[in-house]
Parts: sequence; C-alpha cells; structure tokens
Amino acid sequence: MVEETMRDFFLFLSKNKAMTKAAKKYGHQFGAKRFVAGESIEEAVRTIKNLNAEGLPVTIDYLGEFVDSVEEAKHMADNCIEAIHAIGREHLDSQMSLKLTSMGLDISDEVVLNNMRRILDAATEENVFVTIDMEDYERCGKTLDVFKQLKSEYENIGTVIQAYLYRTEKDVEELDAYNPNLRLVKGAYKESVEVAFPVKADVDENFKKIIRMHLLNGNYTAIATHDDAIIEYTKALVKEHDIPLDRFEFQMLYGIRIDRQRELAAEGYKMRIYVPYGTDWYGYFMRRLAERPANVAFVAKGIIKK
Ligand code: FDA
Repeated sequence: MVEETMRDFFLFLSKNKAMTKAAKKYGHQFGAKRFVAGESIEEAVRTIKNLNAEGLPVTIDYLGEFVDSVEEAKHMADNCIEAIHAIGREHLDSQMSLKLTSMGLDISDEVVLNNMRRILDAATEENVFVTIDMEDYERCGKTLDVFKQLKSEYENIGTVIQAYLYRTEKDVEELDAYNPNLRLVKGAYKESVEVAFPVKADVDENFKKIIRMHLLNGNYTAIATHDDAIIEYTKALVKEHDIPLDRFEFQMLYGIRIDRQRELAAEGYKMRIYVPYGTDWYGYFMRRLAERPANVAFVAKGIIKK
C-alpha cells in the first residue's frame, strides 16, 4: 500500500512541468547521477567506452520528452544526430533510443516524421540502430503508426511494447507482418485500470506471453527487465526451442543491477545497457524512483552525505 502510494507520487512528479524546468536549471544533482551518464555527449561517450570495454553493448538516450515547440523538437533531433555521429566517430558499440514526444509527436505528424527521417538518415550513414521508446497509453497508437510508417522506409528501426497494456497482445500479433525488432518491457507510466493490468502478477504473465509470441514468431527480441523470474523464463524458453543467442538480447538500465548485468554477459548472453544522458533527466529519474522505493532511501543517503 505504502509502495503503491509512493509509486503514484513519483509518477505524478515525473509529469510536472515546473519541476522539469527547475531540474534542468539546477543541474544534475540529487542522486540522478546513479542513473544518468552525465549532461554532455563527452561524458556519455566515456561511460559507453567503459561499458563496451567490459563486453556490454549500449543504447544511448539523449534525455527529453513532452516537447511542445517546433524549435525545441528540432534541437532535440540535432542532439540525437550529434550522438549518432559520435557513435560512428568513436567506433562505439551503441544503438540509439529516443522518445517521439521529444521529436514533436504532440505537435504534428509532419514535424515528428521530418525529425525522425533526419535522424534515420544519419543513423543509416553510421550504421546505427534506432529504437523508439514507448511512452504513455495516450501516445501508444500514434507511436506505433509512426513506427510502421518509418519501418516501411528504413531497416534500422525498432520500437517498444509494454506488457501492462491490455492491447499489447494484439499489437504484437499485428506488428509481426513488419518482422520488427522489438524491445519488450513491463511498462513505466501510470495507467488506468481501463487500459492496463492493475495487478503485477498479471503484468508478469502477459510479459511472458509476449516474449514467447515474439521469439517464436522468429523476430529479434530484446527482453528489457531487471526481474530474475522473467530472465530465467527467457533462458528456459530459448533453450527449449533452440533459439540461437544472436536472435535475442537482454537489456537493463544504466546503474541498476550492475552485478547481474555482468553475470549475464559472462554467461554468454548479449546484455545491452540503456545509457541516458543530457540535462532533461528529471522525468526519467522520477520513473526510476517510482519503480523501486528503495532507491529513494539510496538517493536520500547520497544527499545527506554531501
Ligand atoms: P520489476 O519492476 O518487477 O523489478 C524486478 C526487480 O528488479 C526488482 O525487485 C528489483 O530488484 C529490480 N529493479 C527494478 N527496477 C529497479 C530500479 N529502478 N532500481 C533498482 N532495482 C530495480 N518502459 C516504458 O514504459 N517504455 C520504454 O520504452 C522502456 N524502455 C526500457 C528500456 C530498458 C532497457 C529497460 C530495462 C526498461 C525500460 N522501461 C521502459 C522500463 C520498464 O517498463 C520497467 O518500468 C522497468 O524495467 C522495471 O520493471 P522490471 O521489468 O525491471 O521489473
């Protein structure tokens, strides 16, 4: 009950525009450093080099979401392009992840598609794969429409499917026609019982169901979770069906379950780390606190020590 209230509280804070602005202004503080690689591309490159040296591939995320001006969306896209060229120049083992609301999804189809095509042209040139993160339910249908459009024009694009939504099974079925590379996750936003499973056990069951469907459909699957039960389920499934190691990967967030990340890599699995950077870290950071109230204590200790 307390955990549920804290989760709702942090998810509420994650969407607060005044707090987002204040966080950008006052910098990368209050424990966010544990989950965010830095504010500049140079800091992110250093982090990625260290992870790559340990045998961990990355997906880099220039933080930003819910942009409502054309100039800001263009600026966000320019930063993603800068990151893509840094990946090429520095020979990093890294993909790119981004959110469509930072590319102008809430402004118009034209703005979001123009920005995405500029990014995907640069990504094609540098041989970088781009994943469209999934945001809240309100944007899910629109995000999938943009994905389908871009997938018909570019090879190097994938997206994310959230196990907590009732619509998800049907989405995985429909997307199969595109042979998509999908990242499967539990889902990180606050959604109503009308659209999402309210009980964690049901989310976990649905997660297993879509992992099975997408892998057995023959599509490349990224299983993005810190949950050992889901990881063990996937391991048993791929063994049972002789699915080769190059057809799937595990993904975890930077700073979370670091030892487990290294263990899975040492066992021979591809283990990709999602590395966010940039000044717009506030919403991302609040969602991480919502997922695990124990992180609040961790962060509080960090603040008190300063
Ligand atoms: P769950 O939350 O059940 O946690 C299982 C265990 O993992 C916990 O008991 C704890 O030990 C550990 N753990 C989990 N979260 C932790 C945290 N924050 N700090 C420390 N330990 C933690 N969501 C979304 O809606 N759209 C998206 O595009 C993405 N993209 C994405 C990419 C990647 C690489 C990952 C790993 C996750 C996402 N997510 C996401 C987030 C996802 O939906 C989900 O909120 C989190 O991964 C937490 O769920 P778990 O599957 O880890 O399990």
